[in-house]
Amino acid sequence: MAGGIYIVALRQRSFKSIQLDKRKKALISITGFSLARNKMATLPILHYEEKIIETVERNPVVVVIGETGSGKSTQLSQMLHRHRYSKIAVTQPRRVAAVSVARRVAQELGVQLGEEVGYAIRFEDRTSHNTHIKYLTDGVLLRESLANPELDEYSVIILDEAHERSLNTDILMGLMKRLVKIRSSNLKVLITSATLDGDKVSKFFDDCPVLTVPGKLYPVEVLYSKERPSSYLESSLKTALDIHIHQPEGDILIFMTGQDDIEKLVSKLEDKVRALEEGSCMDAIILPLHGSLPPELQVRIFKSPPPNCRRIIVATNIAETSLTVDGVVYVIDSGYVKQRQYNPSSGMYSLDVVQISKVQANQRAGRAGRTRPGKCYRLYPSQVYQEEFLDVTVPEIQRSSLAGSVLYLKSLDLPDIDILKFDFLDPPSSESLQDALKQLYLIDAIDENGAIASIGQKMAELPLEPSLARTLIEANNYGCISEALTVAAMLSAETTLLPGQRKTDRKRKHTISNLPDGSGLGDHIQLLQIYECWDQTDYDIGWCKDNGLQVRGMLFVRDVRKQLSQIMQKIAKGPLGVRAKGKTEEFQQDYRNLRKALCVGYANQLAERKMHHNGYRTLGFHAQVVQVHPSSVMSTDDLGKFPDYVVYHELIATPRPYMRYVCAVEMRWVIPIINKLKTLDVYKLSGGIHHVEDESEKNLPDLPKKDVEVAGTADDPQS
Ligand code: CDP
Repeated sequence: MAGGIYIVALRQRSFKSIQLDKRKKALISITGFSLARNKMATLPILHYEEKIIETVERNPVVVVIGETGSGKSTQLSQMLHRHRYSKIAVTQPRRVAAVSVARRVAQELGVQLGEEVGYAIRFEDRTSHNTHIKYLTDGVLLRESLANPELDEYSVIILDEAHERSLNTDILMGLMKRLVKIRSSNLKVLITSATLDGDKVSKFFDDCPVLTVPGKLYPVEVLYSKERPSSYLESSLKTALDIHIHQPEGDILIFMTGQDDIEKLVSKLEDKVRALEEGSCMDAIILPLHGSLPPELQVRIFKSPPPNCRRIIVATNIAETSLTVDGVVYVIDSGYVKQRQYNPSSGMYSLDVVQISKVQANQRAGRAGRTRPGKCYRLYPSQVYQEEFLDVTVPEIQRSSLAGSVLYLKSLDLPDIDILKFDFLDPPSSESLQDALKQLYLIDAIDENGAIASIGQKMAELPLEPSLARTLIEANNYGCISEALTVAAMLSAETTLLPGQRKTDRKRKHTISNLPDGSGLGDHIQLLQIYECWDQTDYDIGWCKDNGLQVRGMLFVRDVRKQLSQIMQKIAKGPLGVRAKGKTEEFQQDYRNLRKALCVGYANQLAERKMHHNGYRTLGFHAQVVQVHPSSVMSTDDLGKFPDYVVYHELIATPRPYMRYVCAVEMRWVIPIINKLKTLDVYKLSGGIHHVEDESEKNLPDLPKKDVEVAGTADDPQS
């Protein structure tokens, strides 16, 4: 920025610099709100309204790059709406951002949330037929495009926060490329980002224009540690206190890796600040900020502190770009982030604390310079930044299981889309694509030639990962859909069910003591029993509290369960498979049927007990020795009670491979799966495109062939 004149660089073959008119006054009179008026009027993006609208009018796709906090998420939609574009979809990779930005825009426009401005995230739709500006997660827009591939209800689709490179936004970019060709006259697509490589995206969209909105960033002094601290939590604590005691006013933003560490640091900071001598320094408010924060706590982030008080915000990387916290002058950067990575060769997810990229480090530092010159304390040496940090973050598509995405793309059934040749900004490895195909084949979602099967088509309609979707469909045949819906809902709400993951599991094991006997059957059955106990209390809130369950989480489960049930009714085109029951044996029979359905759904996630060992060996493509996660109900059973075969919800490396959410299954249900594995031909599955050595045979156990039961046949309830 020079002399108060902002420059917009318009890239369409050549760069052009232009001075922009002052539209602030006009804007305020149109929108007619007062609350956030002053703050809003200073947002850089508002100076470029005319240029942005003009460029959008002339081009089907426009990339808008602007510093975090420049107003992309909150203002672009309003701007387009003022110029008669309606209806406008704005995608966000994170649920919390979709909700918070929608709330903010509704407030700015002085309308009720859910009316003209609304949001939709998985399992929660707060929109109405009046909604003109809709914030939604990228996953929800993908789902909408299943029902309506042309998304013709929208005249503008804004893919916001594209620099996060979430798997779903990457897929949407591929789909938008196709959609603008089909709907060239009546669809505008905007891709917005804080740091994205604009040229690369522009090239992807046939050299579309790139508008760069320079932010108002003040200089940030970057201070490095001499060495990596042995505990970055302690080091953050010490640095924050040091700033609080010795530095002038201004909020402190600390980047931690996850909710657990945030909670620990918040409580330590509270103790230390309380212990400071009264009057020795200003007051402090300590606030956590992460994705699973309840909405009432999220809003505190956007409130200014009272005079003579500074806020110390302890956040995950959500505060890097997704949510802009105003007033920050000091940033403490640990240099780490928690990242979920999938390894297609082992089928294992690991939640690793990894080093951030240079782009992330610079984003974090930038948070200190939004209101005045600031300081960034990097808890690592400059050499680590220079030599060890990657330049950019690895896109999610290159570190996720692609089974759900491949199923989605196949279910679109678009003649011009071939998943193996799909136009990705950065393509995934062929290994992960093949891994996805193999997984889908084994759970009957695609046939041996890689074509979507009717079961796969139904699965895609459920907003669940493929294994759970498959379980529901199977459970409907077995008369235990009610139980399966509960388990699916409980697993979907896992993060909000109980406070803190570790506490969760400990509490779950010890506090709910009056559950019926399901011992030896595993975690899914216990989840089911917990919900059923609650159901019997007529959804008593006190019962949740007494048993250490979060009321909000349990109410969410009930709601999710209802929604899934409605979708299942649509898919089943009729009443669902629910058996009437009364006697205890009948409950046991339902548990058995449910476990059988889980075995079909989780055919990719099977493990066999290792003899004379406390571990299991996974069955399938890549055998490995794994153990039951300590949080499992089974981990407290004595070894002699461990079942011979189990399915698991996920494999995580922490750092040893553990199975989380384990459920006992029977050998005779496993045999058909092993037999199916033997028929797998990756070459055929990939439509003859990729040829790899198929190693699956090597890991197949020799199971006795007697007593084989055909998968898909329900147990006779009377037997
Ligand atoms: O998208 P971008 O990072 O460019 O900016 P934004 O999210 O539109 O934020 C613009 C301004 O609105 C910032 O000053 C935010 O702090 C504020 N904002 C807010 O107060 N409450 C929200 N829920 C979202 C944004």
